[in-house]
Amino acid sequence: MNYHLETIRSKFPALSIEDSGRKRIYFDNPAGTQVPTEVADAMKKCMIESNANIQGGFETSNRVDKILDEFHQSMADFLNARYKEEIIFGQNMTTLTLHISRSIGRLFKEGDEIILSKMDHDANISPWLLLAEDIGLKVKWLTFDKETFEFDLNQLDELFSEKTRIICVGGASNLIGTINDIKTICKKAKNEKILTYIDAVQLAPHVAIDVQEIDCDFLVCSSYKFFGPHQGILWGRKEIMQTLQPYKVRPATSELPGSFETGTQSHEGMAGTTAAVDYFAWIGKEFAGQFQKEHAFDRQRTKYVHAALDYLFEYEKLLTLYLIEGLINLKKIKIQGITQSDAMDRRLPTVSFSVDGVHPEEIATELGKNNIFVWSGHSYAIEVVKSLGLYENGGVIRTGPVHYNSIEEIKEFLKILESILTTKQ
Ligand SMILES: Cc1ncc(COP(=O)(O)O)c(C=O)c1O
Repeated sequence: MNYHLETIRSKFPALSIEDSGRKRIYFDNPAGTQVPTEVADAMKKCMIESNANIQGGFETSNRVDKILDEFHQSMADFLNARYKEEIIFGQNMTTLTLHISRSIGRLFKEGDEIILSKMDHDANISPWLLLAEDIGLKVKWLTFDKETFEFDLNQLDELFSEKTRIICVGGASNLIGTINDIKTICKKAKNEKILTYIDAVQLAPHVAIDVQEIDCDFLVCSSYKFFGPHQGILWGRKEIMQTLQPYKVRPATSELPGSFETGTQSHEGMAGTTAAVDYFAWIGKEFAGQFQKEHAFDRQRTKYVHAALDYLFEYEKLLTLYLIEGLINLKKIKIQGITQSDAMDRRLPTVSFSVDGVHPEEIATELGKNNIFVWSGHSYAIEVVKSLGLYENGGVIRTGPVHYNSIEEIKEFLKILESILTTKQ
């Protein structure tokens, strides 16, 4: 494909930094991505030119009001939300989920049931376990197949009962990389009047998200995973959000979205997040003409952003396949995730693996010495590593290239990994 890698990479100053003459290879992206210059610039501009609190009616405050408004609109465009009031800004996905789960919990009563998934990051598990403990809910689990690394959605028919109130599930796994069929999950749940809470933190950097098409009730993501600042975003269906009791202080507004945006927000984080959305829009406009769906969206920016993500994902699939095939060729490695070459659209480029008889941290440390950044351990997906029987062995080594990485970087990574493995024989 005609992919504009060099132009894209030139947007990210961090990609050309060297340490003691050695290039950095960022494969730690599932834990947080690098940012384009525009994101850092927008944050700096906000802090220098618009540093005030909101609704003061004077110049700097008016500018902040505009930044807030632009942020809500940009995320509504990113997720194809109907209303910008449905977008709640927050510190990160975990904090947003702990917060809103208190309000959602007010809709439930003792003995009600909730469904959580064994494939999820703990940020979409613990808040609900705590809620269950507080008000006496029964927790049921959606499990995944350890051979296919996917859910069998027929299991939902057994899990759903007339007492089920909500299902909380991830759009894609931060550890095994599986992309889940959330549209089908939401359809099945909706038929039973069950609420749906989707953790799209790992989906958002790779796959275009349309909350209207998915037809979920809540969806959360974090801008630092999609080339923006360290912030979180919650989308909630307006009709439901308006029925929830916000946990807020009395002088704060009772109107959406402010009723759920407690205290003073990171305005610079909002400015940076808008710039990250505009980065995608730029790619969509400049390079992704063939992916633009002319009449699919009401708003131009949504059209561009979604085209960009479709375009980038095509390239990412090439990276994923190259990485997986390279890892398969190395001895003693077991990839913990989907590997079939024709299934690359059912998984992220996030590829985790374990090595027979070697602790994952040892490998990650050696790679780190070579300026190749990867994570080892459970990455908070503790139910996943427990399900795979890897919890006691230190979890996995997780590599996560994104659209700014190259095949050359993967080659380099595989070469160094192979040499590390020979020293561990
Ligand atoms: C799938 C998934 N969900 C939730 C989180 C938590 O996000 P945050 O750091 O914004 O709270 C992460 C972070 O890695 C994640 O990968």
